[in-house]
Amino acid sequence: MEKLELLYEGKAKKVYATSDPEKYIVSYKDSATAFNGEKKGEIIGKGEVNNLMSNIIFQLLAKEGIKTHFISELNERETLVRAVSIVPLEVIVRNVAAGSFSKRFGVAEGIELKQPTLEFCLKDDALGDPMINTSQILALSLATPRELERIAYIATRVNEVLSNYFDTINVKLIDFKIEVGRTNNGEIILADEISPDTCRLWDKETGKKLDKDRFRQNLGEVEEAYQEMLNRVSKF
Ligand code: TMP
Repeated sequence: MEKLELLYEGKAKKVYATSDPEKYIVSYKDSATAFNGEKKGEIIGKGEVNNLMSNIIFQLLAKEGIKTHFISELNERETLVRAVSIVPLEVIVRNVAAGSFSKRFGVAEGIELKQPTLEFCLKDDALGDPMINTSQILALSLATPRELERIAYIATRVNEVLSNYFDTINVKLIDFKIEVGRTNNGEIILADEISPDTCRLWDKETGKKLDKDRFRQNLGEVEEAYQEMLNRVSKF
């Protein structure tokens, strides 16, 4: 399958058309941003780690009955995916307080939440991805009530499956962000990526951060943490 025109370039990936209108090629970059693009850098090898890790996870989720855009891995940085139109929402699930949740609600990082939380942000860089609630999503026709139900179900299932899975490789799933897309027959499926860019992942024993917070917070050993996550996921 050949890459045709560049359809979209985001902060971490490029999406290309192919000769088949039902399929796109995603190409992962090493570039990293944080705080809505304010902090910019490069994490050497990140494109490969995120591509390979995301593909392993999407295949695992598929086995659990969660439909994803994954079709086949083309090479270390590129994957063939089902063409979808991305629902402009960042869907965030949290098990433990961290990041913007800790900041917004004044809850110390690391506090276990009594139950997982589900939150939505509008995917709009110019607006800084503001939080949005379900009535606002419906009022703006960003999703239908049925789609929202489906999105919440997918997010909850992904959390269950991945929390258990990461536990077996000695990692605590603190929180994560997913994106979903509409196929051309109107089905909502999991899209984008699941990687150390989009999850908080802490070593179960030491609490060491094995995710993009190492870059966000200048903690060092950024590349090593990404490689460590890929090693653990690959060995499973
Ligand atoms: P937050 O605590 O900064 O809101 O992030 C929650 C989760 O979402 C965390 O695992 C990182 C992920 N995330 C993204 O994947 N993309 C983003 O743009 C942001 C802000 C967070």
